Amino acid sequence: MGAYFGSKATSGLCQAIIALMPPHDTYIESHLGGGAIMKRKPPALRNIGIERNERALQAFECPYPVERVHGCAHRFLADFDYQGRELVYCDPPYLHARRSSGRRYRFDYEDRNRVAVAHG
Ligand SMILES: C[S@@+](CC[C@H](N)C(=O)[O-])C[C@H]1O[C@@H](n2cnc3c(N)ncnc32)[C@H](O)[C@@H]1O
Repeated sequence: MGAYFGSKATSGLCQAIIALMPPHDTYIESHLGGGAIMKRKPPALRNIGIERNERALQAFECPYPVERVHGCAHRFLADFDYQGRELVYCDPPYLHARRSSGRRYRFDYEDRNRVAVAHG
């Protein structure tokens, strides 16, 4: 199967991103998609992937157990019971107007989402 649309794997950025990650016990990857970072990094004690697209979530393959959450990352991140040793990696869709590609995700972001994110 080819790389997931929007995956950082295609740009060779994965190891550079992983190298920047501070120590953590819980790794949360919102907007999981193909989970290019999750499946390349060493596992944390607890690993959680969140994705709105159920088909993408089911297709995600990882060499270690990951808690898969089907739903909205905004809601999950707002409600999570943080203990202080979490690392959250977010790779949301670019706003469509700022993309070079005309392709769309089934669950995409529009300007109103940017406003919602900025104000929590
Ligand atoms: C840029 S892609 C992520 C690519 C991923 N980092 C990878 O390695 O393949 C963005 C993903 O966010 C998902 N998405 C869009 N809105 C979401 C939301 N509110 N909550 C969770 N996932 C969402 C889309 O379905 C899409 O899979």
